[in-house]
Amino acid sequence: MAKIVGLMLLVQILFLAATGAAASSAHPAYEEEAAACGVGGGEEELVVIRREEYDGGRILDITHAYREDMPSWETDEGLGQFLWLPKSMKNGSLANNSEMKMPTHSGTHVDAPGHVFQHYFEAGFDVDTLDLEVLNGPALLVDVPRDKNITAEVMESLHIPKGVRRVLFRTLNTDRKLMWKKECHTDYIGFMEDGAQWLVDNTDIKLVGVDYLSVAAYADLIPSHLVFLKSRISNGTSDARFCIIVVLWSG
Ligand SMILES: *[C@@H]1O[C@H](CO)[C@@H](O)[C@H](O)[C@H]1NC(C)=O
Ligand SMILES: *[C@@H]1O[C@H](CO)[C@@H](O)[C@H](O)[C@H]1NC(C)=O
Ligand SMILES: *[C@@H]1O[C@H](CO)[C@@H](O)[C@H](O)[C@H]1NC(C)=O
Ligand SMILES: *[C@@H]1O[C@H](CO)[C@@H](O)[C@H](O)[C@H]1NC(C)=O
Repeated sequence: MAKIVGLMLLVQILFLAATGAAASSAHPAYEEEAAACGVGGGEEELVVIRREEYDGGRILDITHAYREDMPSWETDEGLGQFLWLPKSMKNGSLANNSEMKMPTHSGTHVDAPGHVFQHYFEAGFDVDTLDLEVLNGPALLVDVPRDKNITAEVMESLHIPKGVRRVLFRTLNTDRKLMWKKECHTDYIGFMEDGAQWLVDNTDIKLVGVDYLSVAAYADLIPSHLVFLKSRISNGTSDARFCIIVVLWSG
């Protein structure tokens, strides 16, 4: 039960929705913007369109928008406030300028090789060293059995063809809508160490995507990460091996 989807990672640009703010004579952009859009005096409501599908479905934005009530690792409090507007046009600033602060492990993210290996961390293997050629391109979407974590046996049963380099694993986490619950659940589905090892040994997969906060099942948290990230993707050289993308599906 697998289908090909185009995967394009879109850097999430956060911006506040324009709300058809009342025109302020203190700032020329309010007026000019309204005129340029053919909106008379800012009376008409501006409607924001957020698309998740582009080019007839060739490119899908599968990232989650950041929300204050999205889950955050090992807390029941959710992400909490992560966005502020210290410079605001309504308060006389020339432009709206937001500030944001959150753990880098929030929402849709990639794991850096240095995430679980101190020597990679010290050598500077951050996400900027990941191979963009691996991170972008067609991906296989696979539904995994709902009653198990991703073990070697499960991996074998999926019969993922040779040559497939990017796989998004859809699991019970999506059915449970875990990314829409504020509390962090540690009983989510993820890779067990033997599942990760089977994948590395028997497939051509270079990118793994999952649908909750961690690629590894909580019970095998560090061992599964070590298996994947040991073979870090550096800069496209032949030893290049792995990228993990965590948390997909906004729907
Ligand atoms: C700009 O800031 C105002 C508040 O001053 C806010 O209402 C509006 O949504 C912001 N616009 C954008 C595009 O961020
Ligand atoms: C504008 O300033 C007022 C008064 O300091 C403050 O209460 C309000 O929250 C500010 N609004 C924005 C959008 O920053
Ligand atoms: C998956 O593993 C977690 C521990 O990491 C466990 O709590 C959960 O029950 C397992 N799920 C299934 C369906 O076996
Ligand atoms: C990047 O690639 C070059 C060869 O193209 C290689 O010499 C270098 O070691 C690589 N850097 C890393 C960090 O792997």
